[in-house]
Amino acid sequence: MPTQRIIIDTDPGQDDAIAILLAFASPEIEVLGITTVAGNVPLALTTKNALKCCELAGRPDVGVYAGAEAPLSRPLVTAEYVHGASGLDGPDLPEPAMTPRAGHAVDFIVDTLRREPAGTVTLCTLGPLTNIALAFEGAPDIVPRVKRIVAMGGGAFEGGNTTPVAEFNILVDPHAAQAVFHAGVPVTLMPLDVTHKCLTKASRIQKYHDLGTPVGKATAALLEFFERFDERKYGCDGGPLHDPTVIAWLLAPEMFAGRDVNLEVETRSELTMGQTVTDWWHVTDRPRNVHFVRDIDDDAFFDLLFERISRL
Ligand code: BDR
Ligand code: CA
Repeated sequence: MPTQRIIIDTDPGQDDAIAILLAFASPEIEVLGITTVAGNVPLALTTKNALKCCELAGRPDVGVYAGAEAPLSRPLVTAEYVHGASGLDGPDLPEPAMTPRAGHAVDFIVDTLRREPAGTVTLCTLGPLTNIALAFEGAPDIVPRVKRIVAMGGGAFEGGNTTPVAEFNILVDPHAAQAVFHAGVPVTLMPLDVTHKCLTKASRIQKYHDLGTPVGKATAALLEFFERFDERKYGCDGGPLHDPTVIAWLLAPEMFAGRDVNLEVETRSELTMGQTVTDWWHVTDRPRNVHFVRDIDDDAFFDLLFERISRL
């Protein structure tokens, strides 16, 4: 019986794709729907990529809903230089036969939260927070009905990956992030401080080749493409695997360690736009609005990921 009922809000992206596969492979999790947002690539491509992920996992029954085409108040910035022109370069996945469901992602989020019992639906966000901010702004009644938001984004001690101080998901829509993190919903954040400890080393990827299954081969190809950019950038064996940590936290929170902090997103300075100003040492009296995860047992994380993906 699933104990976690989730909506995945995402901009696939290879690491988003692995997160979606991990959720589908986990019997503890029921995916109520996937909502897409512009981020790594424009919305038409993130939506197509989400459909491809559902088909790869054998889950054409899951609804994919297209959402915001642009951030709340800044022009869209994309990351083809990391993810390739399609956003999902690497494996040779077929054009999806599935089509997106009718209706806007924001309406799906609102309708689902109104329909389901309060406190039972978790929002797992793997991209810019535009859809969630729009849903909360347009339908404030849903805010207290959200169980929790588990989000990949931000960084403190690790700095940024897109500017010296800003992580990509937060930089793309800092205004949305600031609004969502102050909505009053419990937030667990997976920042670069934790995801940079999850490196897709060659030995970890080889296991997916060895599986020999379509999902195993696709996973290996996704991981190999995704790590190229970051291996060059950071000079390490393997690149950080960001988004699957969100799903892993739902499955095995004991693998992670963090603390409740005040976290504010910079939305005014062009120099530090999107910085997640994190009061780790509690040097202010500002309210602790985010559970900031800083550490992970990376071997346990990759073991869990492999065990689950090998089920597909
Ligand atoms: C985040 O940005 C995207 O490139 C990845 O999919 C991840 O969600 C990492 O900064
Ligand atoms: Ca992402």
